[in-house]
Amino acid sequence: MISLLYKSSYVFVLFYYAVIPLGYLTKWWVTVEKMKGNSTILVTGGSGYVGSHTIVELLKNNYTVIVLDNLVNSYSDGGCKPEALKRVEEITGETVTFYDVDITDRAALDKVFKNHKIDAVMHFAALKAVGESVRIPLKYYQNNVGGSAILLEVMACNGVKNMVFSSSATVYGDPQFLPITESHPTGQGCTNPYGKSKYFVEEIMKDVCTADPDWKVILLRYFNPVGAHESGLIGEDPSGIPNNLMPYIAQVAVGRRDKLQVFGSDYPTPDGTGVRDYIHITDLAIGHLKALERMFSPNFKSWKAYNLGTGHGYSVLDMVKAFSEVADRPINYEMVGRREGDIASCYADASLAKQELNWVATRDIKDMCRDTWNWQKKNPKGFKSS
Ligand SMILES: NC(=O)c1ccc[n+]([C@@H]2O[C@H](COP(=O)([O-])OP(=O)(O)OC[C@H]3O[C@@H](n4cnc5c(N)ncnc54)[C@H](O)[C@@H]3O)[C@@H](O)[C@H]2O)c1
Repeated sequence: MISLLYKSSYVFVLFYYAVIPLGYLTKWWVTVEKMKGNSTILVTGGSGYVGSHTIVELLKNNYTVIVLDNLVNSYSDGGCKPEALKRVEEITGETVTFYDVDITDRAALDKVFKNHKIDAVMHFAALKAVGESVRIPLKYYQNNVGGSAILLEVMACNGVKNMVFSSSATVYGDPQFLPITESHPTGQGCTNPYGKSKYFVEEIMKDVCTADPDWKVILLRYFNPVGAHESGLIGEDPSGIPNNLMPYIAQVAVGRRDKLQVFGSDYPTPDGTGVRDYIHITDLAIGHLKALERMFSPNFKSWKAYNLGTGHGYSVLDMVKAFSEVADRPINYEMVGRREGDIASCYADASLAKQELNWVATRDIKDMCRDTWNWQKKNPKGFKSS
């Protein structure tokens, strides 16, 4: 009798701890694999920097991709597709459907949804120049916030309620603690309209999820994306003076600009210059696929925010040194005063993405510099040089 009890408790333990989780895992895996092969993803702002790199990963994983972009910040020679997307097709050997559409144009957006059976939207389209957003805030609110609200409405009208949104570490403002976790307060210290526009859109998306439980939203809070695809065919191509450090360094290295201005050398950081969490663009792109898989899993509900960063902070001078080593040439720079709105240090706690998305950044600072340099050398004037 006792041995029978023993045996049945073994069976119970086996069932409880092995068979049920295995069944659950299989169901999850089957759903995710099915979604991968059969899903169509609409990518807004897909001819931009982050979008184009993410599309490469989507195509590599057999997703069908539809892109819409109004080309406000991406180059086209006037042909049927922006240059970045032609290069994406060259890298992957796959085709993407492209629409020259503005997300604030409700009727045009609606047509895209009517033309395709879309399963989820990856929403990159936004204006992103912090300084410009201070000068023309209404343009930023209209484009980033108004455009996102219109997109959400059109999605709902067409029964598409899955969204991965490009948010930013700027929603955390000046960090109250480091490394920054997803539970860090948001919105409080946003110093510019660009950062606020990201915060407002996050809040709108949370409200939409509260109002309708069918919605699933993942908010990806990027830290500092840098680098380029390893082929050197696509990369960051800022128009005018770069706002971000890495493209600026690369343009100095290639001789397009005289010298780098380092804003602030008296921050409370090891060398006095600002510290940021730089993340390779390919790692960031893969993070989007992991987010999509999580969103498509049967147990995902409502909304969730994830930090995409490496968890390591590098100073401006660390980046200059690393780039100089990779490019094998000195990078001319000068120290100038602090820039308004800049903060001393900002780096992520990326452990939630590791736990729940099964994602970690694997590329280091050397990879970031090498791939940026490869892209810059092959395309000294960006996409226009082709
Ligand atoms: N690159 C970064 O450092 C960074 C950091 C955090 C968050 N983000 C966010 O990630 C997203 C992508 O950034 P990116 O670096 O690829 O920028 P990007 O400017 O290279 O790409 C954005 C694309 O959106 C398009 N676009 C803008 N407004 C549009 C509109 N109304 N309708 C249709 N298309 C429109 C632009 O033409 C551009 O091709 C943005 O939402 C940005 O705010 C970027």
